[in-house]
Amino acid sequence: MGTKTDKWAKGLWQKASNSWKTREQDNNYRKYLVHSSLERELADFRAHKGILVDIGCGEGGETAYLHEYLKDRGIILAFGFDTNTELIEHAIPNYKKICFSHGETRELMEVYGLLGKVDLVSSLFVLQDTPYARDLIEASCEALKDGGTFFSVIVNPKFAEAIDEKGELRKKNIHESPRRKEHRFVAEYPIVERGGKPFFVPYFHRTLGDYVSLIEEYFTLDSLNTLKPSEELLEKSEREKILPFCNEKGNIYWPEISKIPSSVIIKARK
Ligand SMILES: C[S@@+](CC[C@H](N)C(=O)[O-])C[C@H]1O[C@@H](n2cnc3c(N)ncnc32)[C@H](O)[C@@H]1O
Repeated sequence: MGTKTDKWAKGLWQKASNSWKTREQDNNYRKYLVHSSLERELADFRAHKGILVDIGCGEGGETAYLHEYLKDRGIILAFGFDTNTELIEHAIPNYKKICFSHGETRELMEVYGLLGKVDLVSSLFVLQDTPYARDLIEASCEALKDGGTFFSVIVNPKFAEAIDEKGELRKKNIHESPRRKEHRFVAEYPIVERGGKPFFVPYFHRTLGDYVSLIEEYFTLDSLNTLKPSEELLEKSEREKILPFCNEKGNIYWPEISKIPSSVIIKARK
């Protein structure tokens, strides 16, 4: 790797890593919206002395959450991989039961002897974040046992398009060589924070169809579901001022977040 786009994406994550460690609204988003859907999707998952690999694990909080949830479903070993050194260094002392490592996913799978051994590969909010979605999916496929589960949550492309229409995506024009384009455009994507300016993470736009076709090249699609807050959550958020689900100054996701599903959960089988 090492193309201009890749360098740009990694550089932007370098810049965003401190804000990511201390983010507030995104943690609400997980707690109030993502986790219950995730648990529904993985309710039937079972493994025997199973291995989980979480690709693009960030600061490790979500890997730890998944590990805890899957313990009763037979997962005994969990790995968290990320290309960002700083986030992995943050994760290591905080979640000691998980093996965190930084580097390129395919290489790490090999280093840890995981090829063909893994029961579940998760990647939460990573595919839209990398120019190399195909490499990530391919490495996941190589790591999984036959019948293993690939599980991914992404930003819904339609939601990103709505944010773009408001002029809140910072589009980038990066010319790269060698050219290996797997996305439609590149942008900086804003992460809302209370009382402050948003911080930005890399965003590679693909349509939902692009993702599905890519995943279907390697896996059999099991399910695809979209995530949108319920009326109940919207009312509670308005009452208790829970970002990003409330109408508050500076919340650039509003009102779209109440109307357009903001995430998509995709589950597939090798
Ligand atoms: C939006 S964060 C999500 C972090 C974590 N999965 C979570 O849900 O909190 C995206 C993460 O993916 C990592 N990342 C981006 N491209 C990657 C790649 N090609 N391989 C591994 N990690 C990658 C970034 O460094 C960042 O930590």
